[in-house]
Amino acid sequence: MIEVSAPGKLYIAGEYAVVETGHPAIIVAIDQFVTVTVETARKVGSIQSEQYSGMPIRWTRRDGELVLDIRENPFHYILAAIRLTEKYAREKNILLSFYDLKVTSELDSSNGRKYGLGSSGAVTVATVKALNMFYALNLTQIEIFKIAALANLTVQDNGSCGDIAASCYGGWIAFSTFDHQWLQEQEKQHTIVELIEMDWPGLSIESLPTPKDLRLLIGWTGSPASTSDLVDQVHRSRKEKMVAYQKFLQDSTLCVHEMIKGFKENNIDLIQAMIRKNRQLLHELSSITGVLIETPALNKLCSLAEEYEGAAKSSGAGGGDCGIVIVDQKSGILPLMSAWELAEITPLPLHVYSNQRKEKG
Ligand code: PMV
Ligand code: MG
Repeated sequence: MIEVSAPGKLYIAGEYAVVETGHPAIIVAIDQFVTVTVETARKVGSIQSEQYSGMPIRWTRRDGELVLDIRENPFHYILAAIRLTEKYAREKNILLSFYDLKVTSELDSSNGRKYGLGSSGAVTVATVKALNMFYALNLTQIEIFKIAALANLTVQDNGSCGDIAASCYGGWIAFSTFDHQWLQEQEKQHTIVELIEMDWPGLSIESLPTPKDLRLLIGWTGSPASTSDLVDQVHRSRKEKMVAYQKFLQDSTLCVHEMIKGFKENNIDLIQAMIRKNRQLLHELSSITGVLIETPALNKLCSLAEEYEGAAKSSGAGGGDCGIVIVDQKSGILPLMSAWELAEITPLPLHVYSNQRKEKG
């Protein structure tokens, strides 16, 4: 039996801007995993996922109509990852066979609500990795990223794929996305094997060193939000507000570059200053677009963290979910934990995940 895991993630900085080619974000992998097992089967295969069985399918309304958002449904990511990896395998003349594929997840809670820790990215990566082993494809890390990104984009076409990168590489990364339009054009003309061999313009994934005294704290505010929906909302208003939006992109890029410098120079003060700066920039993005990123609960999470010497901001698309705090290892964290709990903010006991988990098979 093959068993592989892929970690979840948290955005640290550069959200929204990173959806546009060439604008970086900092993302970190965390030590909660989606695990995929694959076992040979005969004539009929099966797919089973903890993320699916009995899980309520979320729906929303668009112009009054009830719509199911497939982008919220993990099964679509598993199927897309299987299709893409098998297409690659077929192009390599590998004989396809039957298997039972099973998914377990530490990234979703039992009622199907997410913590916003990137379970759809992680399940895509874990599925590609499992089939990579099952079919002995010998894919490298960047090739796994590219296949998982292609699979992800068939389900959710408005994301940066930063979650996929964090899940593939682990640890702290600086990430800029590829030119999505270019990739769409190339997909019409090339095989998957050819696409994977190409350099994707704009794509950059760089592992960052972890500053010695840096500590990452994570708080969960509940009210999970749909990332793809929020990104759609921001994109709807960006055309009208082009000038202000372009300024936001430029400022975010400068801010994330400074933060990357902070990581490379082991400078926690600089990292903290840029976390605060990025929070401000996301506030500005909210006023430009009218999209609520920092909810009142996230605002509370941040102001309490600031009272205890932390630099805090919302993580990812916001609208609920998690906030992150960067503190110096030397400052105590217990007073903040108690203050959060009083304010009904749940500290999540997560750690940065750096080393590849041992894989069987
Ligand atoms: O909400 P999260 O943690 O999935 O992060 C989304 C980050 C965005 O930049 C808003 C979107 C993206 O795909 O990068
Ligand atoms: Mg989110």
